[in-house]
Amino acid sequence: MSNFYYQDGTLMVEGLSARDVAQAHGTPAYVYSAQALREGLGTIQKAFAAIDPLVCFSVKSCPNLSVLKLLVDHGAGLDVVSGGELRRALQAGAPPEKIVFAGVGKSREELTLAIQQGVLMFNVESTAELERINEISGGLGRKVQLALRVNPDVADETTHAKTSTGGRETKFGIPLHHAEKIIADGGFEHVDICGLHVHLGSPLSEASPYLLAIEALEQMEQRLAAAGREIRYINVGGGYPVSYASPGQSFRPVLEIGQAIAERLQGFRARGKKFVVEPGRSVVANAGLLLCQVEYMKQGWDHKIAIVNAGMNTLIRPTLYGAFHLMWPAQHDGFTGDWEAVARLPAQGLEKVDVVGPICETGDYLALGRSLPAMKSGDLLAVFSCGAYGMSMASNYNSHGRPAEVLVDGSEMRLIRRREVYEDLVAFEVDLLK
Ligand code: LLP
Repeated sequence: MSNFYYQDGTLMVEGLSARDVAQAHGTPAYVYSAQALREGLGTIQKAFAAIDPLVCFSVKSCPNLSVLKLLVDHGAGLDVVSGGELRRALQAGAPPEKIVFAGVGKSREELTLAIQQGVLMFNVESTAELERINEISGGLGRKVQLALRVNPDVADETTHAKTSTGGRETKFGIPLHHAEKIIADGGFEHVDICGLHVHLGSPLSEASPYLLAIEALEQMEQRLAAAGREIRYINVGGGYPVSYASPGQSFRPVLEIGQAIAERLQGFRARGKKFVVEPGRSVVANAGLLLCQVEYMKQGWDHKIAIVNAGMNTLIRPTLYGAFHLMWPAQHDGFTGDWEAVARLPAQGLEKVDVVGPICETGDYLALGRSLPAMKSGDLLAVFSCGAYGMSMASNYNSHGRPAEVLVDGSEMRLIRRREVYEDLVAFEVDLLK
């Protein structure tokens, strides 16, 4: 049984009912299960055990400090992509030597802060960035470690175009042959180019794109070794899949994907390399749900509409990527079973409904034409698999405050981010009327 399940008709998050969480903290709210977070991290550690990597949780997927702290306390390092994420990582207690800093546009300020703090390494995306790091590092009297992010021109057909990053047409990484030349040529005296990094997209559904990319990396690493240039770290990114319980979704479980990748990395391991992985979604997506409430039911010309109090401002993935999130009322009389089992309930008695938010855009929906039990105003609706890229991509569009975040551990709940109020929305504005 997972940590989200129905017991005698009531949706539970570990030992608490979703209704109790909503009563205590209101809706919309992102609700995380601490046990599921620990299990998510554990699954990754297990999947890649054969290469014993540093698991750097990708902060962008769920940057809440309490979530980061929980994962850090259980051994995770962190993958950051901005000065803000770096500061979160440090505040959550991550040792700098377990932090990797990625991203195509690192500013001087961000690089300086990260070098001063002593992060493990940067994942570098261009020659211009390499020059900048070399200059700053020299100025600070340091020599910093870095990995070149290689663009292997390996694209995964199943990954959404907006989140596929391994192809030659994207902005990511340094073309393979070019990266090899940079390392072979040397000449940046204040940096130690000690690693190779690839990240191919998010989510991938198979290990095969990584297996192809590793093949190319391995050939490159061996040519470099023959020329006396030693690489010590191999970072195989993130993008490992999770269940969205969608009717069409087919993917290989992360445990198998990780094992296949780890197996393919054994040659590197035999030559003494160290490894980094940067999973986000596969750790947190299935550890969080979005709890919202039906405001109104409405009849359109020819379709039913459920207007809930969460929209594209709360969860943008459905409209941005056409992403499917399973959703179900938090009360389903008589039903006992895992959250994913609601997708297999008999279709009898269900009605097709558009689940939409309060935002003034046609693209503001959580689901279109979804088969759901009849709902009425006031009903609680749970949107599953929302722990990754849910709250982290929420906005204040239409001047709605962002939702609360709640962490459930056993039968205890903690508010880990309070709901935003009007004063938060205007806090940075200069009031010329005064
Ligand atoms: N490493 C790098 C270099 C990345 O760019 C990413 C994600 C990750 C690791 C972590 O990927 P994950 O394991 O979480 O899939 N907003 C989109 C996903 C964007 C991913 C961006 N980069 C979504 O909601 O699906």
